[in-house]
Amino acid sequence: MSRQQAEVTRQRVIEIMQGYRNTALLRTGIDLGVFGALAEGPRSAAELGARLETDERGMTILLNALTAIGLLRADGGAFQLASGVDKILVPGEPGYVGAHAKILASDWEWDALKTLDAAVRHGGAVVDEHAETPNFAYWEDFASYATLATGPTSDLVVDALRPWLAERDTVEVLDMACGHGLYGYTLAKAEPKARVTSLDWPNVVPIAAGQAEKLGVRDRVSFLEGDMFEVPLGGPYDVVYITNVLHHFSAEQAGQLVARAHGALRPGGRLVVVGFTVGDEAPDVDPAPHLFSVLMLAWTGGGQVHTEREYDEMLRGQGFRAPSVHALPGVPMKVLIAERD
Ligand SMILES: C[S@@+](CC[C@H](N)C(=O)[O-])C[C@H]1O[C@@H](n2cnc3c(N)ncnc32)[C@H](O)[C@@H]1O
Repeated sequence: MSRQQAEVTRQRVIEIMQGYRNTALLRTGIDLGVFGALAEGPRSAAELGARLETDERGMTILLNALTAIGLLRADGGAFQLASGVDKILVPGEPGYVGAHAKILASDWEWDALKTLDAAVRHGGAVVDEHAETPNFAYWEDFASYATLATGPTSDLVVDALRPWLAERDTVEVLDMACGHGLYGYTLAKAEPKARVTSLDWPNVVPIAAGQAEKLGVRDRVSFLEGDMFEVPLGGPYDVVYITNVLHHFSAEQAGQLVARAHGALRPGGRLVVVGFTVGDEAPDVDPAPHLFSVLMLAWTGGGQVHTEREYDEMLRGQGFRAPSVHALPGVPMKVLIAERD
C-alpha cells in the first residue's frame, strides 16, 4: 500500500519531527564506540562508561535511549546488541555501515538542511560553502567513506562492458569527478589493459590515489586536478565515467559535462553514468530520488535528480546512442551506458 493511502496520524507526524534525535543517538553510539564495545559481550552502563571513558550518567542515558529505539537490548542492568546490530554496526565486520554516518548523518549535510526553507524560497543553495565549492572538505570524507553502493554498480559496469573490452587493444579510461575513484579502479582490476585517469579537485585526488594503492592498480592510474568543466581532459578515451555527479547540476550544465565526455571519447567509446533517476512512479512509491533532490536543492545552484527521459535526451542530444539502463535490486541508483556515435 502506498503511503498516500494510509491515514497520517499525529504519532507519524511527531516521529518525523523528532527524526533527528534518532540520527543523533545512532551517530553518538558509533562515534563513542558503543557497538564495538558491546560486541565483546553484555555490559552495564558503569562498565561501558569506564571502558569508553565517558561519564556514567551520560552513558546510562545514551544506552537506555539506544535501547528505546531498538538498537540495543537491556536485561537486568546489562546492555547488549539487538539482533542484527552485530553485523552492521560493529567495526571490522564485512557488512559494517557505521562509517557512512560520516556522510549520511554528517554535520555538513545537516547544516545545509537547516537552511532548506531559505533554499526553497530562493530555488537553490543559500549556504556559503556547498557541493559546488572548489575543494569542499566534505568531498574528502565522501571519498574516504562513501563506498556503500559502489561495489555492486561498479561490478555491473565491468560485467556489461567485459565482452566489448576484451576485443580492444587499448582501454583508456577517464573518471570525471572520481571521488574515491573506485569505478575506474574496479575496471582496472578486472581488465589488465586498462589505464585510468582520475579527475577531481586537488583536495580529493590524494584520497583517490590511496584507494588505487589499496586495490593494487596505482601504477596504471594518473590524475587530473581541477574543475571538470574547464580542465583539459586529454584522451582520446575508450570509456568515460561520470558517476553520482550529474544530479549536482541543472540538466543544461549536466549536458555540458556530457558534451565534454563526448569530445574526449573515441568514436564507439562508452560513457557510463551512475546516479539516481526519477522514473514514472509517484514519489511515495519511489522516494529515494525525491529525498535526494532535497539535499541538491539546499546544496547546489541548480541540481536535482534528473528523469530517465531527461538523461535520454541529454545523451542523444550530445551525440550518443540511446543508453542501456541497468538496475540492481536494493540499489537506488541506475547505471546508464551510452555508445558515442
Ligand atoms: C558525489 S561525489 C561522486 C564521486 C564518485 N564519482 C562516486 O560515484 O562516488 C562528487 C565528486 O565530484 C567532485 N566535484 C564536484 N564538482 C567538481 C568540479 N567542478 N570539478 C571536479 N570535481 C568536482 C567532488 O569533489 C566529489 O569528489
